[in-house]
Amino acid sequence: MHSVEEQFSTLPPRLQLGTCRSLRDFQQIAQIGEGTYGRVYKTKDKQSGKIVALKQVKLEQEMCGIPSTSLREIMILKSLNHPNIVKMNDVIVGDRATDIFIEFEYCEHALSGILDQLYHPFTESEIKQLMLQLLSALDYIHSRWIIHRDLKLSNLLYTNDGNLKLADFGMARKFESRVRDYSPRVVTLWFRPPEILLGSRNYSTPVDIWGAGCIFGELLQRLPLFPGQSEFNQLDLIFQLLGTPNNTSWPDFFRHTLSERFRHLSPNGLDLLSQLLSLDPSQRMTAHDALHHPYFQENPLPTPLDQMPKYPSTNIPYRPTHKTENQTGLPPPSQRVLEAISKSTKQ
Ligand SMILES: Nc1ncnc2c1ncn2[C@@H]1O[C@H](COP(=O)(O)OP(=O)(O)O)[C@@H](O)[C@H]1O
Ligand SMILES: [Mg+2]
Repeated sequence: MHSVEEQFSTLPPRLQLGTCRSLRDFQQIAQIGEGTYGRVYKTKDKQSGKIVALKQVKLEQEMCGIPSTSLREIMILKSLNHPNIVKMNDVIVGDRATDIFIEFEYCEHALSGILDQLYHPFTESEIKQLMLQLLSALDYIHSRWIIHRDLKLSNLLYTNDGNLKLADFGMARKFESRVRDYSPRVVTLWFRPPEILLGSRNYSTPVDIWGAGCIFGELLQRLPLFPGQSEFNQLDLIFQLLGTPNNTSWPDFFRHTLSERFRHLSPNGLDLLSQLLSLDPSQRMTAHDALHHPYFQENPLPTPLDQMPKYPSTNIPYRPTHKTENQTGLPPPSQRVLEAISKSTKQ
């Protein structure tokens, strides 16, 4: 396979490339980024003389076509037009159909680079301007039913005329108001919100708002806000700064974690379970109220007594040695219980 550098210099005479422009029309100046999905080059458009950025679409296996992340990025970027969102100009092809690049307006910086290299941090009033631009981009995409899902400083570009440009829509997707079952494996760890860390597949635009909060904090203190080393450590850092969730700070928190564990339970079932498990004893449901809970009136209705199943006896004969075998006074745990214990200690 030819390197991109070779392709820039030794492309064959004009090829039939459909409506796409050819890589031959561009002169490479420098490689400026090596991202997750491909390299980014600073190049000069030979026709217009303009400096543009070309992002290579990395094909994991040539035979499998363009990766869905790049297709998504192209489709979504095509539909967007906002001063704070990086402008996609075109799709460019090299000498083979598998050599594909996305052409973007060129921005002089990524905010990560500025923060890494700058001695004088942004002033608070400059940070305000940056945040207003970021929030304006988010407001724009959210109103078009798009979640970015990968906010971080390296995905925020900055032009020397003071404009912030939201970039890298490789993780972005359109969301729907109805059924959602999104991948929890999104958002770079340090910018990942608690609901995703807790395994939610039902998240939405607040994911990006959390990212904006992390960016705001990082711009102010010039250090990442939550530099977690693992998912568990990430949550720990978040709770250290913001406190552990409680019914005031996150009224739905317990309902939320319960619904993750008991995915198939109806809203009434979850309501009953959470009220029975209320941490505050004064808030815990009474048996009387529980008996009248709507969960018991909805389908599947409680099985009538005479239709309940019958099993051979499962009682284990009493053995007085149990108490000395373990300090709990309970019989030795069954295989099922051992599995649950090992699962909970792994979490
Ligand atoms: N339009 C652009 N102008 C200047 N630099 C860019 C541009 N687009 C990307 N870059 C640089 O390349 C890096 C990787 O690009 P990005 O779109 O985030 O790709 P990836 O999905 O691989 O992370 C960015 O962090 C930035 O430094
Ligand atoms: Mg990126």
